[in-house]
Amino acid sequence: MVQTQKPQIVWSERLRNLTDRARENLVDGALTDAYKANREEVIGILNRALASEWSAFLQYWHHYFMASDLHSSALREMFKKQAAEEMEHARAIGERVQLLGGVPCTRPEDISSLTPTPVQYGHDLRSMLEADLIGERATIMFYCEVVRHCGNDDIVTRRMFEDLLEDEEEHADELLRLLYQFDATTSEQIPSLHEAPKGVAEAGVRRPEVMRAAGGRR
Ligand SMILES: [Fe+2]
Ligand SMILES: [Fe+2]
Repeated sequence: MVQTQKPQIVWSERLRNLTDRARENLVDGALTDAYKANREEVIGILNRALASEWSAFLQYWHHYFMASDLHSSALREMFKKQAAEEMEHARAIGERVQLLGGVPCTRPEDISSLTPTPVQYGHDLRSMLEADLIGERATIMFYCEVVRHCGNDDIVTRRMFEDLLEDEEEHADELLRLLYQFDATTSEQIPSLHEAPKGVAEAGVRRPEVMRAAGGRR
């Protein structure tokens, strides 16, 4: 018959010498021997994420500045709001880098060399939104990898990136709904005037702005 230890005994064994272990390497602060991740590797990943957040912050501000025509006021506010949220993400990541004993990436040359999502500027409103959506989607893919990598070895970093991931998904969804239309009953995409199926333009369907420019009916 297999002898199994009672849970109380197992736990008293596990927790024995806890304060002795905590007394060791006191200078490590919050980092104890329960931290199982490769700290240097996590700091490297976090600094790449931080560089990515700075890039997103700059990209949204650039789009805020440049979306200056009369019809862009609502979008400008959205760019400003997203920029503020990316800065909050940068703050959270930078603080985590510091807690883990690293130096947060803040030098422009380090940001441009580390970011996996370089700043991309759109030439008009639509390409601005597309560039932002591409950036958000790339960030989502990156942060999914971070969550999987941290697993149970660095629980706080994992939880932080789960929260960031939720924000980035919301950003992407907001951009998606500005770029595309969806049927309210089926959620299927409705082709918009911007992306009329190939051949329609040749068949004589013209966009309203083209009609206005040609003196057509308003
Ligand atoms: Fe972000
Ligand atoms: Fe974002």
